[in-house]
Amino acid sequence: MNNKNSLVLVTGGTGYLGSHTVVELMNQGYDVLIADNLSNSYAEVVDFIEQIAGKRPGFVAVDLADCDAARAFFAGVGKIDAIIHFAALKAVNESVQNPLLYFRNNLFSLINLLENMHGHNIRSLVFSSSCTVYGQPDILPVSENCPFGKAWSPYGRTKQISEHIIEDSCKKENLNAVSLRYFNPIGAHPSALIGEYPIGTPGNLMPFITQTAAGIQKILHVFGSDYDTPDGTAIRDYIHVMDLANAHIAALEHLLHKKYKESCEVYNIGAGRGYSVLEVIESFEKVSGQKLNYEFAPRRKGDIVKIWADVTRANKELQWCVSRSLDEMTLSAWKWQLTLESRRK
Ligand code: WQD
Repeated sequence: MNNKNSLVLVTGGTGYLGSHTVVELMNQGYDVLIADNLSNSYAEVVDFIEQIAGKRPGFVAVDLADCDAARAFFAGVGKIDAIIHFAALKAVNESVQNPLLYFRNNLFSLINLLENMHGHNIRSLVFSSSCTVYGQPDILPVSENCPFGKAWSPYGRTKQISEHIIEDSCKKENLNAVSLRYFNPIGAHPSALIGEYPIGTPGNLMPFITQTAAGIQKILHVFGSDYDTPDGTAIRDYIHVMDLANAHIAALEHLLHKKYKESCEVYNIGAGRGYSVLEVIESFEKVSGQKLNYEFAPRRKGDIVKIWADVTRANKELQWCVSRSLDEMTLSAWKWQLTLESRRK
């Protein structure tokens, strides 16, 4: 299939993961249309995508959780060959404080999307899921056959419910879908023109590290130093956001080139190995030359101890694997933070 004539709709395409995937899609010759309600991102990201890709993606500001707005959006766009659906709220703590906001936003936008896909005969969907569906797995590395764990937050539960909605829709509708269960995406595009851009105080580890090193945050609290891990701090499977973006291209082409075996498939998208919080800090200090100001603090409620992915299925069936190291992740995150600082001046 000639990518050049394929239009891919990327919902949430001005967000952290969406923007990096849009850049990779355009590099591969796809035309891209972004739909985003800008609730957790900035329209200027479209300008930076154009600067990187040398071509401007289409962009429509729309809230897909609004049924009428979603219907009007799809009625107004031309033929779409596939959809990559990132648009969702994803702050775990916020979801605990405001569960109905998360159920409404994340589930209504998916249901509106699926209904319009059916109405406009759009048959290929790549869905942004999360390793959070596993909770704390009993066996590591965790494989896709591991049943859903107890959802540790309403956010995680929306991902579990979304996967079920997609699975049932694939059985009934003329739909082929791939759900990608991300582990911990960090880092930024090598140009440092786009990256993770949290609004307000970051909840995630990497932006908190870079903001502490930049003097925006006073100190990094390491949540828990008494876990059952080699250095006592929690372990996660960190993956470079560019490797994650490439995984979406692999999943899209798996669908467009009809390489799927079932109408609904699920893949872990991680590096297949875990790093502790202290190992991430150590890597950051090495690549940035910055001594990080941190102290140990009590465990964070809702955190699991350790998780890393079994990525055999994605390696084999999507012919995809990571290619970037932890040091490349932390260095790219730091370069992005330095860009943000220079833009503030
Ligand atoms: C990583 C580690 C913290 C901040 C998130 C999402 C999850 C999925 C993956 C999307 C943990 C520790 C953090 C800090 C710290 N994303 N930490 N001090 O919680 O593993 O998962 O990303 O699907 O849904 O929740 O990521 O970056 O918040 O935490 O010590 O200031 O860093 O305790 O061990 P998490 P995180």
